[in-house]
Amino acid sequence: MVLCTIVGFSQTKEAIITIENNEDAPIISKHIYGHFAEHLGRSIYDGLYVGEDSKIPNTNGVRNDLIEALKGIQIPNLRWPGGCFADTYHWKDGIGPKEDRPSMVNRWWGGVVEDNSFGTHDFLNLCEKLGAEPYLAANVGSSTVQEFTEYVEYVMHKGGSPMADLRKEHGREKPWNVKYWGVGNEMWGCGGNMTPEYYANIYRQYATFMTDWSNSDGIYRIASGANVDDYHWTEVLMRDIPKSLIEGVALHSYSVIDWNDKGPAVDFTEDLYFKTMKSALFMEELVTKHTAIMDKYDPEGQIDLIVDEWGGWYDVEEGTNPGFLYQQNTMRDAMIAGTSLNIFNNHSKRVKMANLAQTVNVLQAVALTEGEKMLLTPTYFVLKMYNVHHDAQLIPLKLNTPNYSFNGENLPAISASASKNKEGVIHISLVNIDANKENTVRINVADSNLKKVSATILSSKALQDHNSFESPKNIVPKEFTNFKLKKGTLEITIPAFSVVVLEGKK
Ligand code: AHR
Repeated sequence: MVLCTIVGFSQTKEAIITIENNEDAPIISKHIYGHFAEHLGRSIYDGLYVGEDSKIPNTNGVRNDLIEALKGIQIPNLRWPGGCFADTYHWKDGIGPKEDRPSMVNRWWGGVVEDNSFGTHDFLNLCEKLGAEPYLAANVGSSTVQEFTEYVEYVMHKGGSPMADLRKEHGREKPWNVKYWGVGNEMWGCGGNMTPEYYANIYRQYATFMTDWSNSDGIYRIASGANVDDYHWTEVLMRDIPKSLIEGVALHSYSVIDWNDKGPAVDFTEDLYFKTMKSALFMEELVTKHTAIMDKYDPEGQIDLIVDEWGGWYDVEEGTNPGFLYQQNTMRDAMIAGTSLNIFNNHSKRVKMANLAQTVNVLQAVALTEGEKMLLTPTYFVLKMYNVHHDAQLIPLKLNTPNYSFNGENLPAISASASKNKEGVIHISLVNIDANKENTVRINVADSNLKKVSATILSSKALQDHNSFESPKNIVPKEFTNFKLKKGTLEITIPAFSVVVLEGKK
């Protein structure tokens, strides 16, 4: 069931939104607003983790400013340690006294040597500090069933087992009770170049030995999912893996213009912008089609779709290591974030988690750091504005939107999603992706009986605008008043390339 129907986007001059009341609409899981931090470039080392001896204020080696920033968006979960890195990671190398930990070469990302000073305890303690659920993406590609199951035992078993005793020896008495486990990553590629049939069998084997060790939340096993539109991959996993062994199927899709020529993160043309948005909006088709396959094998909806890598991917910033994937973040990224999150909200019946790639200093980051300085990106502020949807009930919308046209091609200019929280407050998030034109949106709210409306906007003068270390507050959300509520219709005029979140109270 698609819960935001785009009924047409060719003729109309103004966007028309109709609220479809549906008491049975799903809850938008807060985990749709999840994040991903890989051992890649300056994501962990010299990103989140600066070490206990750093001059930069930190808690157990993790930057305090980042801890506060991530709490500020109520980060619901964090996926770690990869990515491609996950299938080269041997967890026992990252426990025990730091000085005794062996080094390793990060073969996927720049070939740098890592000293394993940020390991499982460091990560899980950080998640506790953040109030975020950890999502461990564990090694299948270069591991064994034994190594994998011992990992589960290490973090989940109460005590009186060899792995729980080892954990206690390393200073952690109580288990962490990790619910979310990824069974390998991108098994069609860096995880082992497997066929779906082969991986489905391997998955069954690993999943069989994953025990929740009486964790009250159970264990939630996520199969490595399809690359973009590889529908065959989803079909085979859904067909070949028994429902008793799986809770989620993943999907990875990045907004990228061309893998061989990704274009600059900041100095892009409108042509590149249009292409990026075309790629980002393709998520609607992807989620719809993967969901349809899942519906076929799982009409009861027992297995969730987990979009555990998404975001914009451009060329690295000049002068930075090409293996570190460091890129700036502009209003274009705000457009990707706003539209993608609307898509996930509208598909929240099947999509129960998504993880933006990646948290700090890598790809579409929410924060960038340089020495002691840290900045929050436009993407960060979209996530902050959209916090209101966490665990709220979806309000299905019917949307009729004008086009954003460029070089004879059209995209829907307006993207929208809405929800109602436990207190009955309604939130509607709107994105106008048009690079040149403001757009008027009319929302029929007659049935909602709204009396008080307020709004926030993220907007800027140029699409290429961004926050820099010199000017970190260039782009921040502001109060927005360019709307009127008259006779049951809410009329809003949204500037070009802007995100607006409306709040309506009775
Ligand atoms: O996020 C960067 C990389 O993209 C991940 O390591 C991998 O899973 C994907 O291909």
